[in-house]
Amino acid sequence: MKTLTETGITEEALARLANCPSPRLREIATSLTRHLHEFVREVSLTPEEWEAGIEFLTEAGHITDDKRQEFILLSDTLGLSATVDIIANRGGAGGDATESSLLGPFFRKGAPTFLNDADISAGAMGEPIIVSGRVLNQRGKPIARATIDTWQASADGKYDLQQPHPDEMKLRGRFLTDDDGRFRFRSVRPSSYPVPADGPVGRMLRALGRHPYRPAHIHFMIAAPGYDTLTTALYLDGDRYLDSDAVFGAKQSLVVHIEPSSGATASAIDFNFILNAATR
Ligand SMILES: [Fe+2]
Repeated sequence: MKTLTETGITEEALARLANCPSPRLREIATSLTRHLHEFVREVSLTPEEWEAGIEFLTEAGHITDDKRQEFILLSDTLGLSATVDIIANRGGAGGDATESSLLGPFFRKGAPTFLNDADISAGAMGEPIIVSGRVLNQRGKPIARATIDTWQASADGKYDLQQPHPDEMKLRGRFLTDDDGRFRFRSVRPSSYPVPADGPVGRMLRALGRHPYRPAHIHFMIAAPGYDTLTTALYLDGDRYLDSDAVFGAKQSLVVHIEPSSGATASAIDFNFILNAATR
């Protein structure tokens, strides 16, 4: 029988992947095993620290349900989601296609469909805003009937899922662009907000001396036949957390200026989204 040494065990664990029928899964499992073993050797992880890590992940599992996703939050706050997003879009979008940004944990399927000009605030208090723009291809041609899902936090920094009645959908909706690729909806100005910090990820952030805030933003997922689906967000200019987003999602090209209200006209954001022709 072989004696497994500190490094020999890694080779042995890798050898057990030899019969994995999927080359891609084998590649991922091989790299993950190597990095995990190397990480443990590098920091000389103690059994107590290993146990604390297992307890942390267990707690993340227990707090996760259909309305709360602690694992996405963990991935986001470690910068892992943003890295995956950047790699997925490297060399892909090119040109002047709109940059992507994180999906985050608050997207919900089945949000109500509205006609353009509708108000998605559903009675939420806050400064009224009008969000409008066009969906275009890279040659500047409008994309009609693109599906736009949008969702955002309230003026006090909470998504509907974090409200006392999380089954009610608020501050989210689906729109279709018109023949000219235009969309327009009414809402209230979102606020910067802390990611949910009452669970293990919040405890992790405090232990690491980090703040949990995201700069104010509005999420978008835009889909149209023949184009890559764009998951992105618009970030409000001037927000104090733009440079220290807790989940590394904010990008300069997605920062928008809010035109202040004048007279009877609400504050306004106008932004054109440019989709990339389908790459797969
Ligand atoms: Fe968000």
